[in-house]
Amino acid sequence: MTSEHPNTTPRTASYEADPEQVHRVLLLYSGGLDTSVMLKWIQDQYHAEVICLTVNLGQPGEDYEVIEGKALQLGALDCHVVDAREEFAREYLTPAIRANALYGGGYPLFTALGRPLIAKLAVEHARMAGCDTIAHGCTGKGNDQVRIEATIATLAPELKVIAPVRSWQMGREEEIAYAREHGIPVKGGTEATPYSIDDNLWGRSSEGRWIEDLAHAPEDDVFQLVTRPEDAPDDPEHVELTFERGVPVALNGEALALVELIERVADIAARHGVGIIDHIEDRIVGLKVRDIYEAPAAAIVLPAHQELERLVCTIHQNQFKGQLDRQWAYLVYAGLWWEPLRADLDAYMDHVNERVTGRIGTKLYKGHARVVTRASANAVYDASLASFSESGGLFSQSASPGFIELWSLQSRMAWRLHNE
Ligand code: ARG
Repeated sequence: MTSEHPNTTPRTASYEADPEQVHRVLLLYSGGLDTSVMLKWIQDQYHAEVICLTVNLGQPGEDYEVIEGKALQLGALDCHVVDAREEFAREYLTPAIRANALYGGGYPLFTALGRPLIAKLAVEHARMAGCDTIAHGCTGKGNDQVRIEATIATLAPELKVIAPVRSWQMGREEEIAYAREHGIPVKGGTEATPYSIDDNLWGRSSEGRWIEDLAHAPEDDVFQLVTRPEDAPDDPEHVELTFERGVPVALNGEALALVELIERVADIAARHGVGIIDHIEDRIVGLKVRDIYEAPAAAIVLPAHQELERLVCTIHQNQFKGQLDRQWAYLVYAGLWWEPLRADLDAYMDHVNERVTGRIGTKLYKGHARVVTRASANAVYDASLASFSESGGLFSQSASPGFIELWSLQSRMAWRLHNE
């Protein structure tokens, strides 16, 4: 590299920026240590102007005025704060709920769903502010770099990307030293490395420290959202969700917009210790890692949706949909939100969900949530047919032996062959 830019590395991909191309940068800014150091470092290394973008996806306890003030104090020309909660719920969480979206059997994809929206907003704001480059704070080890850069390269081929944390080769100690030197506030810089956290409306993840030791059971201090099940109330609580076309629209009979409904369900579930997930995960970049997730709202909404969907669909639809659900979750996990296959799958999900209307009651108690009541005008269910005591009019029980004879025919023949 040129001596003018001693710490920037040569580019590998076509969408990466050459230092000479970087004049005005849109920085995805969280206000944390990495992105604050980046804010200064980009000005230093590239002699570039920086405009910050901070996206509110419902991460709790954030003070956006403080973040904005910090950005301006560290030399940003401007700091845009965008409240994208409503769009996140409508355009990202709604299809995820309709697809019962879980990756690897347990991860409700909150980070994976947030990244394409954050990157899409970065593109919009970069264009508005006349930026040539977008900067983000992802490392080179995770899925988030894939999700963000794939989105930018797809939506804005004219924009370039820099990922300083991936290339600057500063360890945490050096970052803290750099921060001190440049007047960047560091909180509690001498204590042990903190957990690596990412959160939004749909959940919260923690990585790092003892979490990397697979033999280490979760320590209590990692849980910042969900009450320890041991400390949850001694009395159970019932929550009833009303769904319309696969989307929750009311909580205990009270109609609510999706953002508020999710926030309220999260509060109730968290109080009862519901939503803790201790997950081993196959990252898209090859690594196998352990994550601790707290996803209280998802722990109620997803099972309730799935239960209602099963009730209103036939055995054949139910057998099939899980395969598409898994494919949907994998695409989104893998950072391919804009892949047309996802839109194809969504068309199927939306069609199935046209009949997913009804109410599901869940009982919460000390870390557990269990569906206990179901009601839907579309249920493929007839209590008189299922009943032990009555014989309904739609079929005759005396037809069953004929069915069984043919249903079991090939299995019986194969059994006899193997045993002869
Ligand atoms: N393992 C999850 C995922 O890949 C969570 C990642 C959290 N991201 C973070 N930067 N801490 O989606």
